[in-house]
Amino acid sequence: MADAASEETLSNLLHEDREFPPDQAFTEQAVGKAELYDQAAADRETFWADQARARLAWSKDFTQTLDWSEAPFAKWFADGQLNAAYNCVDRHVEAGNGDRVALHFVGEPGDTQDITYADLLDRVKRAANVLLESGVSKGDRVAIYLPMIPEAVVAMLACARIGAPHSVVFGGFSSDALRTRIADAEAKLVITADGGYRRGKPSGLKSAVDEAVAQSPSVGKVLVVRRTEQDVEWDDQRDVWWHEALEAASPEHEAEPMDAEHPLFILYTSGTTGKPKGIFHTTAGYLMQAAYTNAVVHDVHPEKDVYWCAADIGWVTGHSYIVYGPLANGATQVMYEGTPDTPHQGRWWEIVQQHQVSILYCAPTAIRTFMKWGKEIPAKFDLSSLRVLGSVGEPINPEAWIWYREVIGGGKTPVVDTWWQTETGAIMISALPGVTSLKPGAAQLAVPGISVDVVDEQGRSVENGHGGYLVIDQPWPSMLRGIWGDPERFKETYWSRFPGIYFAGDGAKKDDQGNIWVLGRVDDVMNVSGHRLSTTEIESALVSHPKVAEAAVVGASDATTGQAVCAFVILRGDAVQEADEEGEGGDLVAELRNHVAKEIGAIAKPRQIMVVAELPKTRSGKIMRRLLRDVAENREVGDVTTLADSSVMDLIKEGMSKPS
Ligand code: WTA
Repeated sequence: MADAASEETLSNLLHEDREFPPDQAFTEQAVGKAELYDQAAADRETFWADQARARLAWSKDFTQTLDWSEAPFAKWFADGQLNAAYNCVDRHVEAGNGDRVALHFVGEPGDTQDITYADLLDRVKRAANVLLESGVSKGDRVAIYLPMIPEAVVAMLACARIGAPHSVVFGGFSSDALRTRIADAEAKLVITADGGYRRGKPSGLKSAVDEAVAQSPSVGKVLVVRRTEQDVEWDDQRDVWWHEALEAASPEHEAEPMDAEHPLFILYTSGTTGKPKGIFHTTAGYLMQAAYTNAVVHDVHPEKDVYWCAADIGWVTGHSYIVYGPLANGATQVMYEGTPDTPHQGRWWEIVQQHQVSILYCAPTAIRTFMKWGKEIPAKFDLSSLRVLGSVGEPINPEAWIWYREVIGGGKTPVVDTWWQTETGAIMISALPGVTSLKPGAAQLAVPGISVDVVDEQGRSVENGHGGYLVIDQPWPSMLRGIWGDPERFKETYWSRFPGIYFAGDGAKKDDQGNIWVLGRVDDVMNVSGHRLSTTEIESALVSHPKVAEAAVVGASDATTGQAVCAFVILRGDAVQEADEEGEGGDLVAELRNHVAKEIGAIAKPRQIMVVAELPKTRSGKIMRRLLRDVAENREVGDVTTLADSSVMDLIKEGMSKPS
């Protein structure tokens, strides 16, 4: 990107003002219709009730759509009953689509499995029986710590089938992170694997579970999927091989209807404090909105599309757009275990070509990485099957949007930028392909049925052309129902900044036509490669190291990952001496980075750790991260007048400029 010509293109694109109106042929076949906006505007609740009846199979119909009498605790479709797994699997088989492929699984080493809806049903029923036989009952929590393999989908659906909320913990999280999540949810059983494949090598998972479970009194059993066949420690009392248990289990299991508001899952996400929040979702509203948005935003035609969401199941995107949404719709999908550059940088495009993928949904960080690798790589593959591209997880810059459409989408596919959160459960802001005229870089407008706004400090709606805070001012079916075990924190975190309305934590602006451009977090949450990380959580991890006295963490902008973790640490007395003796303290920095990986997971490893003598603080002792961000981003340091000691920043800058 360094040569003059590409510099010029880049600056042109930064002023991108092209619009891409829908193609008529696309519009004619599109699932999303312009009328949806009118229907939702006419009567929001009736709109959602219609969607709920049209998209889900109910064991018992509901009589009330929304109960908001105990706001912000919502109840949707509360007296209705249904089973999420039945909706995702059984009903497609009953409708005669048992032979349709649900999952084209592609393992990183090259192994594949094509799993039909009938196969999936057999596995889910057996797994449900295994859970029941292992002592899990309706309401008990199950932790799932698996690689991206079909068993992860089966495990989640088996939990849903028996009404045991799952708590999926991303396989990249450390043993400590797993342990705290198991403890918070008091999980009774853990489902894991011996290991998974990552960058061509098997990496272990079971050992992390062993460590975590040794300190988890709530866990009675561990089910272990055999994936890599590596050696694992075994506890005969506690550990059970998944394949043996499933084989022995009965293939008969009747899905039990659950109340619409029965908890479906807990998913931990980073907040502004050190303690991760267990966001919990319930059954009907969540499932319906995941299915609805997957249909109208991704334009899924289950009978002909091959859809691929390249997220991990450990994040909400995997929950809503690999498991619940597409399976409720009866779609055929690709599920890929590994990284985009193993064994070569064209791996994704090879998969698209091989499976004739028609819809691709991924994060901007992946797109920017592909841009860096060069367009020659995708050019070697036939990508003509692609007809819709989606983006999620962080703002997509206009140049990445254009590249995605031009290079991957052959200059013809709509690109939809979808804004949502773990808390919202499903897509909230996005263009509808075939309906909306697309603006590169903007998430654009609320999906039909959703009401969002951008407000100022006082909570007043801003005029077009202005920025402010992104809020959701009407309840929605897939909204989080709370933070597991902490209703006060739920109210405080989301509903107190602007009383009565949901504050998402993001800043946004409205352009002259009222399109919404999401700018990013306005709190102490970072977004690194589309992964949410808390500055405080990483700070606590650093401070838990015996050599660290104090730490401050900021997210500095990064051309590929969006933001990168930059840490500033003050060492304890004896460690300072040691670092001096070792020169710039290179070993110590490596030690601290590894410590963060151990405490939280490799994704949280700081890109940079700078050892400093002081941190910039206000007179009341609050660290001014804004100034540290200026340093980390190599900018002129902003206003320092509120610092208790304004010379601190000079010291830090001086330290930074020392040759290493
Ligand atoms: C950010 C991921 C800009 C945002 C689905 C949000 C986005 C956080 C977009 C939620 C987007 C997600 N444009 N920013 N299209 N999508 N974000 O819970 O800051 O992992 O608050 O959910 O990601 O992250 P989470």
